[in-house]
Amino acid sequence: MKRYTPLLLAAALCSCSNQKSETAGNTDWIDNAVEVSTAQLLSAAERFDSTMLFPRSLKTDYSLEQLTAQMEIPVDSFKPEIELLKHPETKDFRKPYLVGYADWTSGFFPGSLWYAYELTGDERLKEEAIKYTNRLLPVSDMTDTHDLGFMVNCSYGNANRLAPNDTIKNVVVKTARNLALRFDDRIGCIRSWDFGPWNYPVIIDNMMNLDLLSNATKITGDSTFMNIARRHADTTLKNHFRDDNSCFHVVSYNSDGSVERRQTFQGKADNSSWSRGQGWALYGYTELYRNTGDKKYLDHAVKVAAMIMSKNKTKDLIPYWDFDAVESESTPRDASAAALIASALLELSGIVDNGQPYFDYAEKILKTLASPRYLAEKGTNENFILMHSTGSLPHASEIDTPLNYADYYFLEALVRYKRAFKGEAIVQDMF
Ligand code: GLY
Repeated sequence: MKRYTPLLLAAALCSCSNQKSETAGNTDWIDNAVEVSTAQLLSAAERFDSTMLFPRSLKTDYSLEQLTAQMEIPVDSFKPEIELLKHPETKDFRKPYLVGYADWTSGFFPGSLWYAYELTGDERLKEEAIKYTNRLLPVSDMTDTHDLGFMVNCSYGNANRLAPNDTIKNVVVKTARNLALRFDDRIGCIRSWDFGPWNYPVIIDNMMNLDLLSNATKITGDSTFMNIARRHADTTLKNHFRDDNSCFHVVSYNSDGSVERRQTFQGKADNSSWSRGQGWALYGYTELYRNTGDKKYLDHAVKVAAMIMSKNKTKDLIPYWDFDAVESESTPRDASAAALIASALLELSGIVDNGQPYFDYAEKILKTLASPRYLAEKGTNENFILMHSTGSLPHASEIDTPLNYADYYFLEALVRYKRAFKGEAIVQDMF
């Protein structure tokens, strides 16, 4: 077994913050957001308990005309992959969409419970967090998905920070072994999907699974996991990004490692910048810098941050579903992209020399998300916290709806924001 030698990078990596906000004294907006979040999460935990499922979103409806206007394509050229056509009945719209452990989003609800517990110390949240996290145990046997980082890190990873035990470590390592099986050495990437027309599809979202590998190396001392994470990130850095540092959603590879195709799946067009994908890139490279201390990842994160801040066109900074979407009042926003960008920028703000612009940008996003335009009233929104996210517009799926990952990254960003003000390291390692 190769041994992992922890790097002595405390000084370089200390994500302590000196950032200050003019409104730092006024924390009413945070207190209100945390109070609403706690009430919503506890209600959802109780309400969905007997189903053994996890709340993911609300089912939505939309017309073909709205969709094609957003895609800027003729109505009759739209590919009929839409849920609406598959499920024309409308009675379920705006009802909760619940999922099992195998769904890519299954870790976010338990993760939100953990963050809300961290923000409040409320033991009821901890109890629910433990219960919902334990329901994800079968994920550690899964080999047919790359989303294992989302599923296990957000749940078990946060559990380890807040209520550690050895079972958690075993789950993380077992899951990381299965994720590593999806790595192809010739290509230098972890395979994302097992469906679709591609030879070997890799999506930018996959950067979010690398922290699970870093954690497995920290737990076991085996550098194999971390080496795979680095190879994946290096190959992605080489092939996913355009000259302006925006990225493609999907890059598919031939078996010899050459690029087969560059495309979108959830964005507006192959050459557009799907908002959440740009956020995954920013988050992934910032996080990998924390885990490796390799400055090339930080340099790249800084470039991606600049790209996001220049391409995001909305005044309130909650992006349209795609940075290249039509600029209009009716264009769907993506609160999930906003939340994860805020969380990543907070981490970045504590790493670079002058992090204030990142901090200010994140703070503005968080205050907007905590306002009545995005934050649900207690007891509404089917117990989700935020409104107005977009899952996959080209698939007519989850448009202008709550999403459990918007809630998760919102709470994570609040935790980071509060830690920054206390002068603590903005991000606390899971292991
Ligand atoms: N990873 C899937 C998404 O971001 O929608």
